[in-house]
Amino acid sequence: MRYVVTGAAGFIGSHLAEALGAAGHEVVGIDCFTDYYDPALKQQNARGLDVRRLDLSEDELDFTRFDGVFHLAAQPGVRSFGDVFPLYVRHNVLAAQRVFEAAAAAGTRVVFASSSSVYGEAERYPTPEDTPPRPLSPYGITKLTGEHLAGAYARGFGLDAVVLRYFNAYGPRQRPDMAFPRVIAALASGGAFTLFGDGEQSRSFTYVLDVVEASIRAMEDAPSGAVLNVGGGEEATMNETISLLERISGRSLDVRREPAVAGDQRRTKADTGRIRAQLGWEPRTSLEAGLRAQWEWAATVESRA
Ligand SMILES: NC(=O)c1ccc[n+]([C@@H]2O[C@H](COP(=O)([O-])OP(=O)(O)OC[C@H]3O[C@@H](n4cnc5c(N)ncnc54)[C@H](O)[C@@H]3O)[C@@H](O)[C@H]2O)c1
Repeated sequence: MRYVVTGAAGFIGSHLAEALGAAGHEVVGIDCFTDYYDPALKQQNARGLDVRRLDLSEDELDFTRFDGVFHLAAQPGVRSFGDVFPLYVRHNVLAAQRVFEAAAAAGTRVVFASSSSVYGEAERYPTPEDTPPRPLSPYGITKLTGEHLAGAYARGFGLDAVVLRYFNAYGPRQRPDMAFPRVIAALASGGAFTLFGDGEQSRSFTYVLDVVEASIRAMEDAPSGAVLNVGGGEEATMNETISLLERISGRSLDVRREPAVAGDQRRTKADTGRIRAQLGWEPRTSLEAGLRAQWEWAATVESRA
C-alpha cells in the first residue's frame, strides 16, 4: 500500500513511518519541522525516511496516489494558553481541515491522531469513548475540533476517517518537553528535575510501538467513523514512574517541586474495551519494559553525542 504519514519527523510519526516501511508499504512523510522542540532532533528522527518538507496549513496537498493518510502532524503540549494559541489553531485546526479536504477530494482514508486531552477531568475512569469531552487546555480543544472536522467532512463529503485518542505515548525519541526525557536527562547528568504538581497525577502511559500497531490496525480494519482510545494497560503516577526510572538507572533523582500547571489533567485512564473488540488491539509493553527501552536508547544517543 502507499501511505502518507504527516508529522513523520516527529516522535510517534517517525516510528510509524519506519514500521510501515518495514512491513513493505511505500511511505511518504510530510513534516515542516516546526521549532516546538529542536528541529535537529526531528532531522535525526527522519533519517532514512522519505520526508517532504511541506506545511500542511498552507502548501498544496494531493493525496490522489495514496491508499491512506495517517494525520499525526500537530502542535503538541497542553501548555497552550496565551501567545502560543495561534500556533495551535494553525497546526491543529487549519492543517487538519486542509488534510481532510484533500483526503475527501481524493477518496483517501484518514487516521487522525487525537488525544486523551479531549476528555479533561472525565466523568468516569477508566474513560470510555462516549464520555462527554471537556478539554482543559487549548491544545485539547484544538484536538477535539479536529475530531469534529473529521466528522463534518465525513457527513458532508464522504470522508473515510478514523479517530484515535492516544494516551501519553512514551519510548525512544519521546518529545523532550515531556516528563520522561527530562527525568532521564536529570538522572543521567545528576541535574535536577522539576516536577509540576504533587506527583500523584496519573496517566495511562502507552509505549510508542503499541501506539504504532494500533494506528496501522486502525487504518487497515477500523470501521469508518470509529473513535477509539489507544491507551496503555497500566495507570501510573509520576511518583511511581520516577521510582521505576530510579530503579532502572540505579540512581536517585534530585526532584524540585513546582505548582501544577494550568491545562494538566489530574488523571487519565483509558477504557480500551472498544479497540479490543473492534481491532483485537491490546497494549503489549509493560511500563517497566518500555521505560527500560527508553533509558537504554537515551544512553546510546548520549554516548554518540
Ligand atoms: N506524544 C503523545 O503522548 C501524544 C498523546 C496524544 C496525542 N498525540 C498526538 O500524536 C501526534 C504526534 O505527536 P508527537 O508526540 O509525535 O509530536 P511531535 O511534535 O514529535 O510530532 C509532530 C510533528 O508534526 C510536525 N508538524 C506540526 N505542524 C505541522 C504542519 N503544519 N505541517 C507539517 N508538519 C507539521 C512537527 O514538525 C512535528 O515533527 C500529534 O497529533 C499529537 O497531538 C500525542
